[in-house]
Amino acid sequence: MGQRLGVNVDHVATLRQARRTPYPDPVTAAAIAELAGAGQITIHLREDRRHIQERDLRILRETVQTLLNLEMAATQEMVKIAYEHKPDVVTLVPERREELTTEGGLDAAGQRDHIAKIIKNLKDGDIPVSLFIDPDLDQVRASHKVNADRIELHTGRYCEARNERERSRELARIVDAAKAASRLGMTVAAGHGLNYDNVLPIARIEEIDELNIGHSIVARAVLVGFERAVREMVELLRNPG
Ligand code: PXP
Repeated sequence: MGQRLGVNVDHVATLRQARRTPYPDPVTAAAIAELAGAGQITIHLREDRRHIQERDLRILRETVQTLLNLEMAATQEMVKIAYEHKPDVVTLVPERREELTTEGGLDAAGQRDHIAKIIKNLKDGDIPVSLFIDPDLDQVRASHKVNADRIELHTGRYCEARNERERSRELARIVDAAKAASRLGMTVAAGHGLNYDNVLPIARIEEIDELNIGHSIVARAVLVGFERAVREMVELLRNPG
């Protein structure tokens, strides 16, 4: 049995927001992802609403047939939104307005009381909680202490490694963190920066149950779908009626 693939459709929304058109709709992309075998749809409702909108969350909650994973900042405003829409799981992520994407893991060890409170609030509403953390044993232990049900290991440093030595070292950190979390009884996910070239060593880690992948899939869709999209427009122009 392979790992569950959570498809992150944020970047479909990025393309839509660039022109404020109704398309491409991340809701449609989510349905196609599920038809293609995805086991989860992941979205990040950011404070600045740069891609996913609350409307997307509302409709996806109704239409997603697998699991809906809502990534969000650890704030009371977001807890309220989660209560309203009841995703299948919430993944708490750090969020800074000026970042291009989520840059580092959540500091579960350093922000213990705050994170513990947000987790309790969400779990009181029967929403399981995952923490997006760096593959670091202290962060794994802290996640367990604050009562997280799951963790998602940040694979960004592994993906950005500049040479084989660095990559092996980062891979080993991910393996160690996954094993530790699994021993503590937490479900383990991983993600960020995974693509068609670097995913396999992560896919072979037995303790990892789920991968969340977005940017590389959307980027590939643009290229593998480009020829057909151009052909369809050429066809239209050939027979304008
Ligand atoms: N997991 C988390 C917690 C994320 O924040 C992101 C990026 O939004 C991803 C997975 C997906 O990363 P990528 O788009 O690089 O595949």
